[in-house]
Amino acid sequence: MKTKFQAIKGMNDLLPEQSAVWQKVEHLLRRLMQQYGYGEIRMPIVEKTALFKRSIGEVTDIVEKEMYTWTDRNDDSLTLRPEGTASCVRAGIEHGLLYNQQQKLWYMGPMFRRENPQKGRYRQFHQLGVEAFGFNGPDVEVEQILLTRRLWQEIGIANDVTLHINTLGDPESRKVYREILVEYLQSNFEQLDEDSKRRLESNPLRILDSKNPKLQSIIESAPKLEDHLDDESKEHFESFKGLLDGMGVSYVVNPRLVRGLDYYNRTVFEWMTDKLGAQGTICAGGRYDGLTEQLGGQSTPACGFAMGIERIIALAEETEFGQNVSNASDIYLIAIGSVAEKKAFNIAEEIRTLFPSLRLSMNFGGGNFKKQFKKADKSGARLALILGEDEVANESCGVKFLREEKPQESMSWDSIADTIKNYFQLLDR
Ligand code: HAM
Repeated sequence: MKTKFQAIKGMNDLLPEQSAVWQKVEHLLRRLMQQYGYGEIRMPIVEKTALFKRSIGEVTDIVEKEMYTWTDRNDDSLTLRPEGTASCVRAGIEHGLLYNQQQKLWYMGPMFRRENPQKGRYRQFHQLGVEAFGFNGPDVEVEQILLTRRLWQEIGIANDVTLHINTLGDPESRKVYREILVEYLQSNFEQLDEDSKRRLESNPLRILDSKNPKLQSIIESAPKLEDHLDDESKEHFESFKGLLDGMGVSYVVNPRLVRGLDYYNRTVFEWMTDKLGAQGTICAGGRYDGLTEQLGGQSTPACGFAMGIERIIALAEETEFGQNVSNASDIYLIAIGSVAEKKAFNIAEEIRTLFPSLRLSMNFGGGNFKKQFKKADKSGARLALILGEDEVANESCGVKFLREEKPQESMSWDSIADTIKNYFQLLDR
């Protein structure tokens, strides 16, 4: 028996009926990037494993359990990128984009994490990532929040999302806090779950992020990072919040927001929704001032975020923005007989030249009127043009509005363009 191949679990094909919404969202994202002055960077999908270990952190879920890693033929350990920030910083350092400069960069593409697939969580998923380098203040963070807010508004999901913010302070104050936290957790050691016990030494802050209901009361009573923050980080966070207030952005200060990647300091944020079940974070990021130096560059302040495009699409599909978006044809060209079939190419090409944004399908493979009309209807077209031998002889064309109760008309080739223009009321979509 022949093997029927299937896509890898958690890695999905995107079919034409879905890709129309994707294209619309991607188009909007590109426009927003331009509006806010970000330039596109495209990085490879494969990097040295050490890059991710050093940036995301050795004892994070991503590095410990989720990376697709293999040994290349020359014994290099390589990994499919699980996120884009590390590669972006690597590329920035490599091409001298970061030192003493201000850069605003974005990228979009597939990321790979070997998680347990479920709704909204995939092994190959797509992110839009945005990274700003060389900006110290909270102003650039606020602009990134405004950019995302504009996106939610345009997609029509602004009422479905909540902004959670927190500050992680500087590395020194976090170190002091970490010791206090570990001491507290150790005094409650027996009540911790296996995961938390394991994290106690390696990554205790992540325990605060645990969803295990049995841990909630311990977490509630844990010492708070905000009580141990350095003054500068406190000030930074205050002015960040002040700017958000000034722009009418509502937010929740969530002291438990610690992020799952190690490179953050100071401001962190996540946009969450309760419309997607367990996978409610649609966009997340923050400041990572230490990463560039950690990866061998000069010290460079930086902040950014990434959004999960699958999750944005899932929300968008429920809104007006995401409905009735399709790649269906606009015009279907019916031709009966070999003379008409030949002429149809000329007419089709001419229409495509005049109306580059319209989708025109020609009938291929012959068939009688009835069969061709059926195909026209199935194509989703709103307008059918009909060409037979008689029409070619007298330079005319049958015109049928497929979605209206109007009888078929006949018109000269000269007037087809006007009819199309008036009917679709656009020249460039
Ligand atoms: P992250 O929180 O790991 O951050 O991922 C960002 C977003 O990607 C998540 O909020 C979620 O929407 C989406 N996402 C993550 N994993 C999956 C998955 N398995 N399936 C579907 N969607 C997923 C980062 O990746 C950081 N690089 C963000 C950043 C950029 N921080 C600073 N600059």
